[in-house]
Amino acid sequence: MDLKKVERVYSNYAGVYDHIFGRIFHESRESAVRRLDIKPNERILEVGVGTGLSLPLYPGYCQVVGIDFSAGMLRKAHERIQSHGLENVVLLRMDAGRMEFEDDSFDTVMAAYVVTAVPDYRKVVTEMIRVCRPGGRIIMLNHFSNGNKLIAAVEKVISPLCKHLGFRTDLSLENVLEGTSLLVARNEKVNPLRLWHLVECVNRKNGSPSTSH
Ligand SMILES: C[S@@+](CC[C@H](N)C(=O)[O-])C[C@H]1O[C@@H](n2cnc3c(N)ncnc32)[C@H](O)[C@@H]1O
Repeated sequence: MDLKKVERVYSNYAGVYDHIFGRIFHESRESAVRRLDIKPNERILEVGVGTGLSLPLYPGYCQVVGIDFSAGMLRKAHERIQSHGLENVVLLRMDAGRMEFEDDSFDTVMAAYVVTAVPDYRKVVTEMIRVCRPGGRIIMLNHFSNGNKLIAAVEKVISPLCKHLGFRTDLSLENVLEGTSLLVARNEKVNPLRLWHLVECVNRKNGSPSTSH
């Protein structure tokens, strides 16, 4: 998958995305944000914000920046911030693999159902670490391949179809974390069938301590 395909596939999804991926995955979006215990003026980046389903979940006293490459998905997210009157949210069209933010710009970086939907997860994770301050939090809500042989066999069979649909099923959390400065503080199974993970990491770059707040 390349960026052209991201734009094509996700802009095609935009009109129906909330109906297909809204409610079924929403409980874990809610619990991901609820558990953050967000502080006043905390700077939060939502990578691959999509149609902005999680944006109304953030308290109005924090500052949220949402980025996405798909103009169609962002249009829907703009409609959502208008209909909810969210004055603390800014949306930008940007490649998560080449972000236009300074180093250490955010306290918390959230990626919900994103690392398996991007052309190059290594670039995206590297960028998430770069723009998150030392000691900040990086949250990934995602399906990760988990080594279970039966599930791995199913993932292998459906993988070509899923790639066509804009995401992959064969990426493990170990691969995502390999060689990074991220320390896993929490890893919980969520969503129907418990096949998805809510992973909270502390960004330990530059020798920062292992607690985030
Ligand atoms: C499965 S959707 C998840 C949307 C949203 N986070 C949610 O919880 O529903 C993946 C999103 O990642 C975006 N995306 C994929 N590759 C990207 C990239 N390189 N840069 C920015 N956004 C990207 C897609 O456009 C899409 O909106």
